[in-house]
Amino acid sequence: MEELRTLALSNAGQLELIYSPVDLADAVGAAVTGLEAELTAAGITLTRALGQAKTRADQMRIRQACVAVLENCLRYAPQSHVHVETRTEGDDVVFRCSDTGPGLVPENQARAFDRFWRADESRARSSGGSGLGLPIVRAIARAHGGDARIVPQETPGLTLEIRLPQHPAAVGKTGD
Ligand SMILES: Nc1ncnc2c1ncn2[C@@H]1O[C@H](COP(=O)(O)OP(=O)(O)OP(=O)(O)O)[C@@H](O)[C@H]1O
Ligand SMILES: [Mg+2]
Repeated sequence: MEELRTLALSNAGQLELIYSPVDLADAVGAAVTGLEAELTAAGITLTRALGQAKTRADQMRIRQACVAVLENCLRYAPQSHVHVETRTEGDDVVFRCSDTGPGLVPENQARAFDRFWRADESRARSSGGSGLGLPIVRAIARAHGGDARIVPQETPGLTLEIRLPQHPAAVGKTGD
């Protein structure tokens, strides 16, 4: 299973990244465009505020992470409103994806990043994933020297954040 290989490599600090200049705004824009028809079909209305968020990163991995986050909105927050935004914040570039779906209670927000963990309501569904999406999102972010988390919020729904350094310390392989 490709996902398990990705996680095993990242645990061993051996997830090989191919770095090139990446603007998160473009990566998120591409991911959204690829899923737009499915989002609309799921009754999701989407707004975007994609500000410049330039860094060096593995473009394919970052795109993969953005897609995993949006796929969760599709699956767990249909008929909701999804807002995606990117921006530069100090020395970081940030991607946030907020939905107005059912969200997760605080004790489950940390578990969502455990491999194979799925909320009971999610497990009860006939169709569904394997619980590897968010662990991979976090592994990809951490391999870049960044992180992924669920942002605590008062309003209903879920906000997922990916934060990467603007100037990653690890240069890795360069794909320029
Ligand atoms: N936007 C969201 N709203 C509510 N719950 C969510 C959301 N995103 C994730 N979850 C919960 O977190 C769990 C883990 O998500 P994750 O993406 O890791 O796995 P998955 O979607 O179940 O499977 P996979 O991504 O491997 O297909 C989900 O099963 C769901 O219970
Ligand atoms: Mg998922």
